[in-house]
Amino acid sequence: MNRIECLEGVRFNYVEMQGKDVTETYVAWMNDPLITRYMESGGGETIGSVRKFVNGLFYNDDAYLFAIIDKENKQHLGNIKIYCSNFFHQRGEVGIMIGNRSYWGKGVATEAIKIITYFGFDVMKLKKISAGCHANNYGSIRAFQKSGYEIEGVLRKNNYFEGGRVDGVVLGVLPD
Ligand SMILES: CC(C)(COP(=O)(O)OP(=O)(O)OC[C@H]1O[C@@H](n2cnc3c(N)ncnc32)[C@H](O)[C@@H]1OP(=O)(O)O)[C@@H](O)C(=O)NCCC(=O)NCCS
Repeated sequence: MNRIECLEGVRFNYVEMQGKDVTETYVAWMNDPLITRYMESGGGETIGSVRKFVNGLFYNDDAYLFAIIDKENKQHLGNIKIYCSNFFHQRGEVGIMIGNRSYWGKGVATEAIKIITYFGFDVMKLKKISAGCHANNYGSIRAFQKSGYEIEGVLRKNNYFEGGRVDGVVLGVLPD
């Protein structure tokens, strides 16, 4: 299996994660409702459940989960994942979580999405990459748009959100 161990960005490094790299800090992010309120998972996580999730990606040849590491202080700030969702159509999907809240709004997601998207096209040979967001997750939508993604559709009342339903937004990007 050919794994990519590390990608280098301008401010951050992207280091592929294995189950053994999961820390209590990462588990705490997955149990923080402020972080997971717009995510598809989270709450009730344990070190075992998170390790299982991370290893599931690590042992999948067509999925990558990278820890986002600040080059200056070596802190683990969050994760970004990419996986091939359809081989025949060469489509991929990206998901991101900046768990260290003191880094929100400082351009982490924008750099990470750009790097992983380039990786998806260049190394994974994808021809289309998409991402899904809650329509009220303005920071996420903006980070994807700043990285070249365009809104391609709205999925009506697609997501549970704090006792109600909100629309989902699908964003996509092409290699050119
Ligand atoms: C959403 C998230 C990925 C954004 O990451 P980030 O590193 O803070 O994003 P960036 O700093 O790259 O910001 C991108 C743009 O969004 C804006 N932005 C960030 N957070 C925002 C918010 N809460 N509301 C409005 N705009 C916001 C930034 O100002 C920036 O726009 P600008 O350059 O025009 O000013 C991050 O907050 C996060 O991981 N949240 C928890 C998990 C999550 O929601 N993941 C996404 C699921 S789809």
